[in-house]
Amino acid sequence: MAGVEGRTVVITGAGGGIGREHALLFGEQGAKVVVNDLGGSRDGSGGGNEMADETVQTIKDNGGEAVANYDNVATEDGGAAVVQTALDTFGSIDIVVCNAGILRDKSFHKMSDQEWDAVVKVHLYGTYHVVKAAWPHLREQNYGRVIVTSSTSGIYGNFGQANYGAAKLGVVGLINTLAIEGAKYSVTANAIVPVAATRMTEDIMPEEMLEKLEPGYVSPAVVHLASEECTDSGSIILAAGGRYARIQYFQSPGHEFDHRPSVDEMAEHWDEITDMSEAQPRR
Ligand code: NAI
Repeated sequence: MAGVEGRTVVITGAGGGIGREHALLFGEQGAKVVVNDLGGSRDGSGGGNEMADETVQTIKDNGGEAVANYDNVATEDGGAAVVQTALDTFGSIDIVVCNAGILRDKSFHKMSDQEWDAVVKVHLYGTYHVVKAAWPHLREQNYGRVIVTSSTSGIYGNFGQANYGAAKLGVVGLINTLAIEGAKYSVTANAIVPVAATRMTEDIMPEEMLEKLEPGYVSPAVVHLASEECTDSGSIILAAGGRYARIQYFQSPGHEFDHRPSVDEMAEHWDEITDMSEAQPRR
């Protein structure tokens, strides 16, 4: 068995946008696909079975294997049910792709607790609940691939997306530790940072940019990260149209004091502390 053939993959939010593209490509590559989607609108309201069902039907029409799940990953029971669907249908779980997401954009000054909570619940807790339910199985079988979905809004910031950015960098924090804890069980954990034209970005990015950003371009990077051959772990991979790149943290050499510095000393050495000209990558 190579690549993802014969592996069971759970993909959250796979009824539309980028997740649907992931699901179709995993299906084409011979994986058994659990297509999770609660079928809501961009802000997370509403729901229905049609989106997940359509993705499943398309995979089957293309000769692949797939099953739908309609649970809400923002709840503990929902996350567990997604993983249970894989176990009940295919008897296994090997790959988890956390992709489900919503937006409730508002400048921080105007953002309500509800807008904060709703976004953090779907992106950060939604990732946590599904990975938490899958983790014991991945560990026990000594094999697994976890891919979470981050965003440039989390890594670099974006106006009106304090809730979303906090959650999207939160999932990077999660994979940093999962990469360490999963290493001795051959479980890898990586993050994808997509940039793609979907309903999520249709009114955020200019038209001429969206034309070059087909969502299907993100999926080959995700399937590669999920493959047996790829043993990278703790990596953050950007996929934007035809451009794929790695994002990494760098640390400056800084300055080391041999005593607790005064505030004045701190100010005196600040330029040296923050000078990135000889910064080195971390990890
Ligand atoms: P989308 O809105 O087309 O797809 C998101 C899917 O997640 C929808 O089908 C939705 O029904 C589903 N979903 C939402 N809440 C859910 C829940 N609680 N449980 C189960 N399913 C749920 O958006 P898109 O663009 O495909 O986004 C996919 C992922 O990529 C998201 O995590 C998003 O934040 C991320 N992303 C997208 C970017 C882009 O340029 N489109 C940029 C950076 C990140």
